[in-house]
Amino acid sequence: MGNDIIYLNGQYLPLSDAKISVMDRGFLFGDGVYEVIPAYAGRLFRLENHLERLDNSLRSIRLVNPHSHEQWRDILSPLLQAGQDQSVYLQVTRGVAPKRDHAFPQTIIPTVFAMVSGINPYADHERGVKAVSMEDSRWKLCDTKAITLLANVLLRQAAVDQGCAEALLFKDGYLTEGAASNAFAVINGVLVTPPKTPAILPGITRDVILEIARNNNIPCSEQAIAKTDLNDASEIWVTSSTREIIPIVELDGGQIGDGKPGPLWQKFYRLFQDYKQSLR
Ligand code: PDD
Repeated sequence: MGNDIIYLNGQYLPLSDAKISVMDRGFLFGDGVYEVIPAYAGRLFRLENHLERLDNSLRSIRLVNPHSHEQWRDILSPLLQAGQDQSVYLQVTRGVAPKRDHAFPQTIIPTVFAMVSGINPYADHERGVKAVSMEDSRWKLCDTKAITLLANVLLRQAAVDQGCAEALLFKDGYLTEGAASNAFAVINGVLVTPPKTPAILPGITRDVILEIARNNNIPCSEQAIAKTDLNDASEIWVTSSTREIIPIVELDGGQIGDGKPGPLWQKFYRLFQDYKQSLR
């Protein structure tokens, strides 16, 4: 199917024909969750991990998953184009309610939507990108992949307004993650990333990076990172399904390392590509 074909509530439709009610609780309350899953050469990457995270997100918002993992695979697969690198966006909302009321409606038929788009994760890798640090203004359920993304949107836009690609977020002086990514730093030769807590999204790319590090005997650690610790960082990266691993070469106007993507990033870039290639 072409990129303009989407899935909505049991049907595959051209994007322009897809309609949902204005009474959908996703529209009125941001009452829903989502996933973004990369597909390399037409094959979904770590689908099980993404679907497990979807299960956790749905449990967190007290919504029953409308589909089994097998059904999800069957729904998403026809959207993919053979041999292409794409990303799948899927969203489940609490559905259409008869009236606007914060409390859940009695009858719930979730709205299920999925679409694909092309990915070009390495647009920025040669030079690296700039980031800016910001106070993490989000809520306490950041491990739920909720569609309610207004704080993330405002933080990311504030970064863009300052000529930066990403906002690095700090809570009580400690790094949480990026506005739409997880964060890593290389400090004293060790690859470090904040531990999984409700303050961060448990990124699937983050897990892959840690796996690659452990499989290659590269020192790594999941630990709290104070903002001041980043003064000693020789590299900082952000990771996500759509952008893979992006090196940050400038934070708050100050150069990181020698202002170019660092040697460990170069190594991980190759290891990550090799790993993807091995799945083709
Ligand atoms: N976001 N943290 C946040 C807040 C994110 O929004 C994302 C990804 C990640 C990385 O998770 P993963 O490696 O599983 O993609 C971490 C997606 C890509 C998005 O919102 O479009």
